[in-house]
Amino acid sequence: QCADHTSARRILLAGPRSFCAGVERAIEIVERALRSRTAPVHVRKQIVHNTHVVDDLSRRGAVFVEELDEVPDGATVVFSAHGVSPAVREEAARRGLDVIDGTCPLVSKVHAKARRFAARGDTVVLFGHSGHEEIDGIIGEAPGSTVLVESAEEVENLAPSDPQQVSYLTQTTLAMDETADFVDALRTKFPALSEPSSEDICYATTNRQEALEAIMEESDLVLVVGSTNSSNSVRLVELSRRKGTPAELIDRGSDIRPEWLDGVGTIGMTAGASAPPDLVTEAVEALAAFGPVSVEERELTYETTRFDLPGAVRAAAE
Ligand code: F3S
Repeated sequence: QCADHTSARRILLAGPRSFCAGVERAIEIVERALRSRTAPVHVRKQIVHNTHVVDDLSRRGAVFVEELDEVPDGATVVFSAHGVSPAVREEAARRGLDVIDGTCPLVSKVHAKARRFAARGDTVVLFGHSGHEEIDGIIGEAPGSTVLVESAEEVENLAPSDPQQVSYLTQTTLAMDETADFVDALRTKFPALSEPSSEDICYATTNRQEALEAIMEESDLVLVVGSTNSSNSVRLVELSRRKGTPAELIDRGSDIRPEWLDGVGTIGMTAGASAPPDLVTEAVEALAAFGPVSVEERELTYETTRFDLPGAVRAAAE
């Protein structure tokens, strides 16, 4: 038994991992709003899908609400990184709310495509997860023209009014391999399919999946730091399992169960785009409490993407 403890357990840290540019921007927007507004700052929905980020901003004074009817007339409201439908924008304008838009610019791009495709008369097939806020927002751009599909198998049942006029969009945080299957199924069913000039899955989602793929074969177990409602985090867990490496989603280090580590020599670790980097450090420390560890960084690419802040908070002090 002692032999198990003589060699250190190896932790491979996938990079890029953790915060993306859209999440950093959304959090900074709330922080700046808290500093520059004297009245309460409301945030519609979780600003990003991470319980720690939301708890931290709540402690600092942000008031999280589900819908605009919880926001007093004329008050400040921040829209989350996942975006909102035009109906929500219209209601905010009608109510005279001071809106600060935290929508990730890469989500806004998908909204713009939805409007363009619907305006030219297409049936827009949207690949994504029902009930996710990003999907609600995109569907809201053209509810009459958009059909949500949740798996490649569902493509077979689509019956658009004109099969010659079909285009597609996807949620930004999907698995690349599943999305490729969806697009293949669409191309087969609709040979006249309009191909978009760019994919909607964002750079951060792509990079985190590729970085995990680069370490998971060497790993006996993969740990993904992220919250259960974080789409891109859950996709990382599924990707690893699909490719044959057991994987678990942890919100923080204390979620790690000792029985997961039985016979595990190498642990691959990553974090979803909404998970703060210090939670990864905490998870490594939690693993070290179970026995000696050695930590290796495996950075596949270096991310330089940054997004400008909206004008409404740009002037606020850093
Ligand atoms: Fe934006 Fe992608 Fe992050 S859509 S919020 S950069 S996960």
